[in-house]
Amino acid sequence: MSTVKLSTVLSAMSYALDLTEGQPLGHAGRSCLIGMRLADQLRLSPDDRSDLFYALLMKDAGCSSNAARVSQLFGGDDQNAKRGLWERDWRNWREKLAYALEYVEPAGSPLQRLRRFATLATSSRSSNRELFEIRCDRGANIARALGVSEPTAVAIRSMDEHWDGGGYPEGLRRDQIPLYARIVGLSQVAEIFWGLHGTDAALEVIHARRGRWFDPELARAFCAIGSGDRLWECLRAETLPDAIARAEPVERVIPADESRLDRIAHAFALVVDAKSTFTYQHSDRVAAVADAIAGQMGVPDVERVRLRRAALLHDVGKLSVPNRILDKPGKLDADEWDVVRRHPHFTYEILARVPVFSDFAYDASCHHERIDGQGYHRGVPGEGLSETARILAAADVFDALSAARPYREAMPLERVLSIIGEDRGTHLCPVTVDALTAVAYRPLTAATI
Ligand SMILES: [Fe+2]
Ligand SMILES: [Fe+2]
Repeated sequence: MSTVKLSTVLSAMSYALDLTEGQPLGHAGRSCLIGMRLADQLRLSPDDRSDLFYALLMKDAGCSSNAARVSQLFGGDDQNAKRGLWERDWRNWREKLAYALEYVEPAGSPLQRLRRFATLATSSRSSNRELFEIRCDRGANIARALGVSEPTAVAIRSMDEHWDGGGYPEGLRRDQIPLYARIVGLSQVAEIFWGLHGTDAALEVIHARRGRWFDPELARAFCAIGSGDRLWECLRAETLPDAIARAEPVERVIPADESRLDRIAHAFALVVDAKSTFTYQHSDRVAAVADAIAGQMGVPDVERVRLRRAALLHDVGKLSVPNRILDKPGKLDADEWDVVRRHPHFTYEILARVPVFSDFAYDASCHHERIDGQGYHRGVPGEGLSETARILAAADVFDALSAARPYREAMPLERVLSIIGEDRGTHLCPVTVDALTAVAYRPLTAATI
């Protein structure tokens, strides 16, 4: 039975969300520490602190869902565009203009940039609302899928509202915005400015935007923390995980039991699959196919649980790939292909940090390896690939061929099996391919747990 804390798992998994947002790793964790320090100042109760803690940690759970739309609207790299947005006061027209000049179709011709600029300018308010709404709604729903409290989910939905009503998605003002959401909104901006320019800049930006972006009372409490506080030392990378663990109220620690771990794997599969319309339900289907193969091969139940979680999370590293590459309708160039080939490396890096997922981090990161050693990202030959890794590889290819891609239609089942049959014994493990072929025509049981 697992006794790991939910906060330990989620603080490690929050690195995946930082990648998607284009923020330095640890952004969500540091925002969490800043918000919890503010909670100390406000003398919040343990219940309030627990709800707030998870809202801060999972604030970007919806970040992948608007990535494709950001890429489409700006015509560039969604992660750069998202990061750039937080570095400016986008409600100030001069800064908004500077932002647009920097991020609107940066690689386009002057005419292309002008066209896109004009489109964005005429639909600015509705585009902003759409982008925030997608992210906030999805974030709240992912939080619910994780099984955290409803006030936590509501805070995530409203964290981009501003005190004077100029925020999104509803344009709520003052006390209409839940307190936790006001704290999350302030903490994330403070963290970004701390990371960019240091402690004084974090304090200054909150003071400067008080009454517009931020609740003036909260801004006052935050600025009263001052630049000499221990908080700023705790934000350093080496001490971050311990500091986050200490920030959770001890009276309200939530254990990550087996069913909670399944929920976490499923919730992050939703985050991954929301990144592109072409990967909709991919992780869930790979888990269902992998589980069916394992059943056919007689894999023991306990191993199947591990396999399903590895399958749900196998592409978590894809959150590092910009949508201009993921959704590109044509052939990828060499640099773009390099970025794609690195995604299993990020899967490993993310899962290896999570105590209860680290034991399948390697297997999950081998899902593009081939038994002839011609796969990526390590080029490991068959002898180095476990049964789990081999099953994941077959299930991944099966679903990738069965689903549409930006550059081709979905393939019929006979064609998919024929291609996989050609790879039997060269790219894919023959035992696994035989099991897959045996179950391919059966209805799959959803891996949704
Ligand atoms: Fe992959
Ligand atoms: Fe995949």
